[in-house]
This record gives sequence, C-alpha cells and structure tokens, in this order.
Amino acid sequence: MRTILTTGGNGFIGSHTCLVLLNAGFNIIILDSYLNSSKKTFQKISDLSNIKNLEISKRLKFYKGDIRDSFLLDLIFKEAELNQTPIFCVIHFAGLKSVSESNIKPLNYWEVNVSGTINILNIMDKYNCNNFVYSSSAAVYGGSKSNPNEDSIKKPANPYGETKLAVEHLLQNLYLSSPENWRIAVLRYFNPIGAHESGLLGEDPNIEATNIFPDICKVALGKKEFLNIYGNDWPTPDGTGIRDYVHVMDLADGHFEAMQFLFNNDPQIIHLNLGTGIGTSVLELIHTFEKTNSIKVPYKFSQRRIGDVANLVANNKLALTKLNWMPKRNIKKMCVDSWNWYKNKFN
Ligand SMILES: NC(=O)c1ccc[n+]([C@@H]2O[C@H](COP(=O)([O-])OP(=O)(O)OC[C@H]3O[C@@H](n4cnc5c(N)ncnc54)[C@H](O)[C@@H]3O)[C@@H](O)[C@H]2O)c1
Repeated sequence: MRTILTTGGNGFIGSHTCLVLLNAGFNIIILDSYLNSSKKTFQKISDLSNIKNLEISKRLKFYKGDIRDSFLLDLIFKEAELNQTPIFCVIHFAGLKSVSESNIKPLNYWEVNVSGTINILNIMDKYNCNNFVYSSSAAVYGGSKSNPNEDSIKKPANPYGETKLAVEHLLQNLYLSSPENWRIAVLRYFNPIGAHESGLLGEDPNIEATNIFPDICKVALGKKEFLNIYGNDWPTPDGTGIRDYVHVMDLADGHFEAMQFLFNNDPQIIHLNLGTGIGTSVLELIHTFEKTNSIKVPYKFSQRRIGDVANLVANNKLALTKLNWMPKRNIKKMCVDSWNWYKNKFN
C-alpha cells in the first residue's frame, strides 16, 4: 500500500481527493496549517471513507503545520520511514489562492506558493521521493487565449498566476536535472465547484472566499443581500465572464488517474488541463442554480476586478487521451451538490 503526502489536504480540493485516494487503497498523510480549513474536515474524510474504524488511524494521518517549516517536513518523512510506510508521492495543494489578495500582498504569495514549494521539493530530494503532483491553475494562461491547450502562451494576469507559473518553471528545471528519476504531473485546474454528494463534505473556507460559489450560496441562504457580478461589459454574449466549472469530485478522480499514469509510465513531466471544456457565463451559472434548486439569487453588477479575464475554458483533449478520465458531473449536478453542502453547513 503506497503512502501519499498531501499538503493542504484538508482544504477544498485536497479533502475530496484524499477521500478518493483513501477509498482507492492509498495511505494518506495530510499536512495542513488550518489557514483556510477546519478541524472538522479531517473527521469528515475519515467518516466518509470506506475504511473500518480500527484501520483508519493507520491509513489516514494528520500533521498540523506549515509547508515552510523544514523541520516538520523532515519529521513527517522520517516518521513515515520509521513506520515502514515511506512517502511515495506528494500532492501539493497547499497555498494561497485569492487573485485579488495577491494584488495587494504579492510577497506573501511568493513566499508561501514559491518558497513553500521549494521547501517541500528539497525534503523530497533528501528522502529520494521523486513523484510529485502539483496543483497549478488556469491562471497561468491569463487571458492570452480563451480556449488554451497545454502549449498555449502563458501570460498570468495577476501575482497569484505568476507564482503558479514560477513553480511550473522550477519543476521543469528540476525534472531536466534528473529526468531518469522525476515523475511530475502539473495539473492546471479550471474552476472547481460542487461538493461530495453526501452533502457532508465541501468547500469550507476560513478566509472570506473570493470565488463565486460560496458567495452564491451565502446569498441564497439570505446571509448576504445580493451577489456582486464583477463586470457586465466583458466581450461575451451576455457580458459576464465565462469560466469552465468542474465538479470537485471529477477533479479528485483526475488526481487519482494522473497518479496512476505517472506510476505506470517512465519518468516524465506532464502538464494537463483539468476542466470540462464547457464554458458557462456567470449569469448562466446563477440561472442554473436558481432553477435546479428552486431558489432566488439576487445580484447586482459592479466594476470588473483587476486581474480577471473575459473567457477561460479548457481545451482538455490531452487529459482525456492520456488519462482514463472524463468529467462525469454536469453544471446542474455541481449546483445541486454545492447547495446541499451549504444548506447542511449552515443549518
Ligand atoms: N479552488 C480553485 O478555484 C483553484 C483553481 C485552480 C488552482 N487551485 C489550486 O489548488 C490548490 C488547492 O486549492 P483549494 O481550493 O483546495 O484551496 P483551499 O484554501 O481550500 O486549500 C488549501 C489548503 O492549504 C492549507 N494551507 C494554506 N497555506 C498553507 C501553508 N503555508 N502550509 C500548510 N497548509 C497551508 C489551507 O489551510 C487549506 O486547507 C491551491 O494550490 C490552489 O492555488 C485552486
């Protein structure tokens, strides 16, 4: 049974991925600072897994701490070796992800997202662990092309995207330094939404979320008066931004398949767009949410945000051909599952 270290594994995408990987037979170690997640999430992963009570404490472990703490990282790798469950692969989710905050605090973003990643890679190198899955983002493309494939021009529109791209460059250098050893998957996520279909696990941020779905649900629950739509003058059919929303459980499955691909093939670095290839405008998303959940979401238009782009939808052909992966859940399912989760969370 292989052991996977997930940094930020208690967060939104990480928690759903840990659940899928546990159920697929991997041991999971989570390192998370709780900066943007809650203690309850770890228990939910455990409860929702198909692993029996006695076995779960051996299969799922948690360390509270920061990816910039080299001593802690070293300890995690050392303890895993002592327990005869050496870390075979790292999935690196931990990081800061707010586009708007990154415009205000670029130093924080470079320190956590870039220096933090260097720290992890240094320890992996020390322990001869050379399998790495990286949470990159569609933000690396910026607005250079509305339907980018993996080779499209990278032109981040904000410091957050710059930090993601900087790590991608670093990983390329690292791979080329020892191509016979490293297996690296760079996964460029588009816009993950949705939640586990039980309604018990979902996005649970501590920091005020700047992505759209937590806001839609807050408005639907009456906790916020109206939704701010940033710009109705984008060059799109209804004037609102178009994005590629992907269900978080499909994304979690994508991690499993990317790992299977890495483990079953020669050492390499691979870059993959993980999205559905389908664009949905903000207004379409709101209307689908209202219709499927029979609830109103009042909204107002406000100024565009610095660093946003008009239209960003994945060309996902490479992921579909290389991996045994196909996003299965449509936008309606994303709206239903997210709403179930938010209703449970706040009731
Ligand atoms: N959610 C998105 O829309 C999206 C899109 C593209 C890429 N990504 C990337 O995917 C990754 C995961 O995103 P998410 O939506 O699950 O975010 P999240 O904030 O829900 O999860 C990140 C987790 O990392 C933890 N964390 C943050 N800084 C840490 C640190 N210094 N040390 C240890 N733990 C730390 C947080 O507590 C949190 O649990 C991020 O790297 C993000 O940039 C996210």
